[in-house]
Amino acid sequence: MTAPAHTRSSADLIRAEEPVLAHNYHPLPVVVARAEGTWVEDVEGNRYLDMLAGYSALNFGHRHPGLIEAAHRQLDLLTLTSRAFHNDKLAEFAERLAALTGLDMVLPMNTGAEAVESAVKVARKWAYEVKGVPDGQATIVVAADNFHGRTTTIVSFSTDETARSGFGPFTPGFRVVPYNDLAALEEAVDDTTAAVLIEPIQGEAGVVIPDDGYLAGVRELTSRKGCLFIADEIQSGLGRTGRTLAVEHEAVVPDMLLLGKALGGGIVPVSAVVAKREVLGVLRPGEHGSTFGGNPLAAAVGTAVVELLETGEFQRRAADLGVGLRDGLTELVGKGVVGFRARGLWAGVDIDPSVGTGREISERLMREGVLVKDTHGSTIRLAPPLTITAEELAGALAALEKVLK
Ligand SMILES: Cc1ncc(COP(=O)(O)O)c(C=O)c1O
Repeated sequence: MTAPAHTRSSADLIRAEEPVLAHNYHPLPVVVARAEGTWVEDVEGNRYLDMLAGYSALNFGHRHPGLIEAAHRQLDLLTLTSRAFHNDKLAEFAERLAALTGLDMVLPMNTGAEAVESAVKVARKWAYEVKGVPDGQATIVVAADNFHGRTTTIVSFSTDETARSGFGPFTPGFRVVPYNDLAALEEAVDDTTAAVLIEPIQGEAGVVIPDDGYLAGVRELTSRKGCLFIADEIQSGLGRTGRTLAVEHEAVVPDMLLLGKALGGGIVPVSAVVAKREVLGVLRPGEHGSTFGGNPLAAAVGTAVVELLETGEFQRRAADLGVGLRDGLTELVGKGVVGFRARGLWAGVDIDPSVGTGREISERLMREGVLVKDTHGSTIRLAPPLTITAEELAGALAALEKVLK
């Protein structure tokens, strides 16, 4: 008989996964059993500072009391209706999310990839019905080194061979241009273009921040050429960069905004397309949907997340503590760090390959009680919960300094 999980060691549990779980991830060898705030605890009771925060799904920390309370309250009332019926939580979620983002309408989904897929469909429909693109001809322009998810259509416009290789045939209708290159975008956008889809900061690529003026330039270009600007803020949004949205750093409002991860408070998968009425208004009954999209549990937690963001506290913390993060990383340049990019509480740190790979540094940090994850060989990504204290952040930077020696 399989022993109850709490009697099995971390090593046992890692071994047990191998024959029964698909090998589509290569996790650090830590088995988390409990968490609170910025800290997680493994099966043996060892504590770790979480400097990844579920790739920004845990912006408010693990088990934020207000979010847990909202979830518990809703669990006792109603969890799912499907959209065959209305539920009493969805209207408020949509009203408050639209107000928070300065847009009009919400299409609730579950995962980030679903929000991206939904936006692709809406943009195409808009191109045929509003812009007048001939049927079947719509194109969407995307950036090289993007990360928008893992579905077949989304990997169709990925430039990462590991994500694509072996998964064709691919969905047509996408053009790839270099990121942060307005001239290339100008050339790629034509009368068939439904939308330009970009991440305001490319998270998976290593927290790649475009030059000042790029996002405003994309906004100007898409407005002038008559196509939509879709901002994928699934990782960059909801407080991470010191603003509610990363596009706010350039005072830009996209036509469609994609949110996910932190929108579910680290409790339930919640994503959304938030858009102008003339864009999302193209969808009619039966054309799109999801059984769990907009379920009352998701709406209750999502509303509680919006409520936290309405206070401005988390955006302020990210901006203020981000100064300490930047200062700490600046100190490490030349001491095992070859460079970094940071905005708010989010950084991509390039490790000197002679000191170790990103994976090796992540494993050394784990042994020091700090959890991070590598990306693209020699980069590690820092994205702690926005509830982290200055002392905890200083501790993480001290651990990084130690393992780089
Ligand atoms: C910018 C961006 N878009 C989309 C996604 C996909 O989200 P999900 O994993 O919830 O499908 C991610 C996930 O990392 C992301 O960073």
